[in-house]
Amino acid sequence: MKISPLAPAIGGCIDDCDLTQALEATETEQIRKAFLEHAVLLFPGQTLGHQDQLNAAQIFGESGTLARPKEFQPKAYGSLPDGIMMISNIREDGVPIGSLPDGEMMFHHDMIHREIPDKATLLYAVEIPSTGGDTWFASGCAAYDSLSESWKKRLEALHARHVYHYGSTQKGDKKGTPAFGEAIHPIVRTNHETGRKSLYVNRLMTVSVVGLETSESDEMLNFLFDHCEHDKFVYKHQWTVGDLIVWDNRCSMHARTDFPGGERRLLFRATVKDTRAPA
Ligand SMILES: [Fe+2]
Repeated sequence: MKISPLAPAIGGCIDDCDLTQALEATETEQIRKAFLEHAVLLFPGQTLGHQDQLNAAQIFGESGTLARPKEFQPKAYGSLPDGIMMISNIREDGVPIGSLPDGEMMFHHDMIHREIPDKATLLYAVEIPSTGGDTWFASGCAAYDSLSESWKKRLEALHARHVYHYGSTQKGDKKGTPAFGEAIHPIVRTNHETGRKSLYVNRLMTVSVVGLETSESDEMLNFLFDHCEHDKFVYKHQWTVGDLIVWDNRCSMHARTDFPGGERRLLFRATVKDTRAPA
């Protein structure tokens, strides 16, 4: 097993690791350590069944179940094992068989609108368009570290409110669904396993800073969104079939670039539960 960095601020690539095989305890330990160090891990060249992906999730903790309300789950979900979600634009009778089918998706942390958001997400690529549909990962730790001391001080005790409308890929794009839960979390989140602080707001789901007037809240959030999304904190992943990526939702956020609507894109997603609320 070989681990090499993908970008200066975030991401590591793990070569020579077949996730269909039982791993040695020393290997899982190495993977967990690399996960804490890099926040995003790429395992290229995999051939995974759903159970293999769920087993891979368990390296990082307890595998999660689907939080999406039943009425907003595509029909095809009935044929998937519990804990596996389908991300796809493939349509049957004009209806997408999976979730989040089309186009660009703004930066976000998965499930930040819940009291205890998922610890990690694993995405496995099965069909990929010829261009676009890339996933960009931004390091919340690098973004926090590079803030001025006065900004760090200003953010110390602040909390933000997060809302998500299932299916939304752009802020304000609610696709007719009501918001399913909302949550308030600290703007600076500390990863209890590493002690590192990260910025914990995102353009898609963060709507306001608690206790500030709208204008001041908007100004602060827009500054933070622009700051967090700076290229120097980002790893831009172009998918290849067989890639499995796991990311740490506690200290990274991700976005999807646009892709041709006429081309098929199919990925399977599994999650890892967290055991505590952000602090
Ligand atoms: Fe996501």
